[in-house]
Amino acid sequence: MFLVIWFLAITAAAAAAAAGAAAFPQHHHTTKFPVHELYKMTTDFWDAFMYPNNCLQAKSINSTLLAEDVQGRIDITRTFVGQELNTEYLFGLFCNAVGSEFSIVGIPTSYTVEEFVGSGNLVSVTVTVSMNYPALAWISPVQITTFITFDQRGRISQYDAVFKWLDWQFATLLQKAQALAGNSSVVELVENLLIQEICSVASQYCIGDLQQYSSTSDCSTFLSSIRLGEVWELGMNTLTCRVVHRNMVPYRPDVHCAHIGKSGGGYCTDDRLYDKYVSQPFFTMSSLIRNSSHHG
Ligand SMILES: *[C@@H]1O[C@H](CO)[C@@H](O)[C@H](O)[C@H]1NC(C)=O
Ligand SMILES: *[C@@H]1O[C@H](CO)[C@@H](O)[C@H](O)[C@H]1NC(C)=O
Ligand SMILES: *[C@@H]1O[C@H](CO)[C@@H](O)[C@H](O)[C@H]1NC(C)=O
Repeated sequence: MFLVIWFLAITAAAAAAAAGAAAFPQHHHTTKFPVHELYKMTTDFWDAFMYPNNCLQAKSINSTLLAEDVQGRIDITRTFVGQELNTEYLFGLFCNAVGSEFSIVGIPTSYTVEEFVGSGNLVSVTVTVSMNYPALAWISPVQITTFITFDQRGRISQYDAVFKWLDWQFATLLQKAQALAGNSSVVELVENLLIQEICSVASQYCIGDLQQYSSTSDCSTFLSSIRLGEVWELGMNTLTCRVVHRNMVPYRPDVHCAHIGKSGGGYCTDDRLYDKYVSQPFFTMSSLIRNSSHHG
């Protein structure tokens, strides 16, 4: 339904542009792929996102599904630029190479495509991913809507991803975790588990010049002093942000150790304001440029 409205809006804008009334982005220098190819390129990505395919992608360091200068944005976290960083975030994070008894990051096991529209080099797709949380004996549906552009080689050049209802999902996760907590506070239990997971990775990988905490007790004292975090704060100075980044530390400790440290390394840092962040342009390539939705 919404996709139809969106399509009509674009059509109306194109008609207005033809009449000289509004600037509509011209898709020069982009490849026009047939829709079935766009669909295949899209499902190739989601296939690779599933465990254990995602671990193979992560091992490749620079996923061939991504352009060298890929720009990505995820509403609940941050923006990510470049092939190597995006390989780590899109594939390494959910491979969970560090392993853990309890995780707030699920293991993607299968998916279904709910909505798809493709045109030129642009796709809008909604998938429902089945995320496995073994410690909770729970397989949770997680719905993700993404605008994607592909370069001429069919690699992802930009993506803008939104996790739908994830705050509701997280509240449900906490309800499930209540079984592990018995009569104690589930938030306290989750906080303690996450602190242990972060501190164990910090002490194992962030050593020498990369050291973030003087000791395990320094680590747990600091982490106990910051907030667990709301779902939209996965890119802020929170415990949950550091849990996300913890999974990436083994890939490149020199890049990721600071993110689980006290400063947050510019990723788990309270350096953003809602109104500034939301209106700030990010994408620079045709089809996803911000201006494309601003009509006179
Ligand atoms: C991955 O890409 C980066 C940036 O282009 C490059 O510096 C690095 O050497 C590449 N790594 C591998 C293993 O290909
Ligand atoms: C939890 O609380 C209930 C009701 O107060 C009590 O009957 C039960 O024994 C408690 N369970 C544990 C494991 O403490
Ligand atoms: C967006 O629009 C502004 C003002 O109209 C212009 O200065 C800027 O160059 C445009 N950006 C892009 C990426 O087209």
